[in-house]
Amino acid sequence: MTKAFLDTALAADIAAGLARVETLFESQLASEFPAVNDLCAHVERYRGKMLRPTLVLVSGLAFSRDGERLPHAHDIIAATVEMIHMATLVHDDVLDEAEIRRRGETVNFLRGNETAVMLGDYLISNAFHLCSRAGDPALNLRLGEVTNTLCEGELVQLSRRHDLALDENTYFEIVRRKTAVLVGASCELGAKLSGASADEVARMRAFGEQLGVAFQIQDDLLDLLGDEATVGKSILRDLEKGKLTLPMIMHIASTKGAERAAALDAIERRDPTALRAALARSGSIQGARARAVSIVEEAKRGLPATRRTHSRELLLELADRVVARDA
Ligand code: FPP
Ligand code: MG
Repeated sequence: MTKAFLDTALAADIAAGLARVETLFESQLASEFPAVNDLCAHVERYRGKMLRPTLVLVSGLAFSRDGERLPHAHDIIAATVEMIHMATLVHDDVLDEAEIRRRGETVNFLRGNETAVMLGDYLISNAFHLCSRAGDPALNLRLGEVTNTLCEGELVQLSRRHDLALDENTYFEIVRRKTAVLVGASCELGAKLSGASADEVARMRAFGEQLGVAFQIQDDLLDLLGDEATVGKSILRDLEKGKLTLPMIMHIASTKGAERAAALDAIERRDPTALRAALARSGSIQGARARAVSIVEEAKRGLPATRRTHSRELLLELADRVVARDA
């Protein structure tokens, strides 16, 4: 346990908030059809770190007054961002042909692609229905824009599969869109709903986006280096699906001759052992890890001052955890 987590009042506020978010999440998805409810119950078991709803709540608490309860809109937005995230994961597992997610079988593996696609649609449609219940069209507009961006990121990634010329800038463009914008919006909207100033809101968004980028670099490293039992989801999907990730891009850019060819050949043959060895030799795995850590450090430096210090400490702690995790 860290210092931030030892603040019992804050821990209790967040636990109570996440419990409300879970109730809202479940009640929003409840259907008169058992076939739909069974699938939603399966997705609810996917719930893992709850990073995005936690960021909405902690960012909200950070800018609220001591003793003040968060308004209901925070719970709605926290449940909405988690539902958007779940929809994207259900669809992503179809694209990746993944069998395991959060230590359980994926919907596509259990029920096939048609059901998984439709369930993802049900989740995304419910996310925007739920968001509308906050009664502020600006929230729908913002999260609509974020979801559009997320889909663009995924489409650009698909268009560059098996492209060994993919450069670092394009990798970061893709990652910012497919992962970081939703994390950024979680921090941004949490702070905004608590009355943070325009400058504070912008800085919270930047903080979240940087966390999101670092999160995805770590995710990519786990996909390449982790083991399935610890990570809890299908690994080596990036290599299998021809997605170049940061250590591969760094290696290709920084080596030539036989070393460069060794990695290109391993990527083409989809040979993880040879690829890991080549990337380790060139320092590209360490390089990608260092890049994620430096993005987190930059995010922490840019975090604005907040009304409540314990919440700010927790945001800093969450930032460190993004790159320290092995699952
Ligand atoms: C995980 O990436 C996936 C994403 C961050 C976004 C996926 C988005 C879509 C498939 C678009 C779906 C859109 C809607 C509106 C439902 P990853 O495969 O690198 O990570 P993983 O290891 O968790 O699978
Ligand atoms: Mg995936």
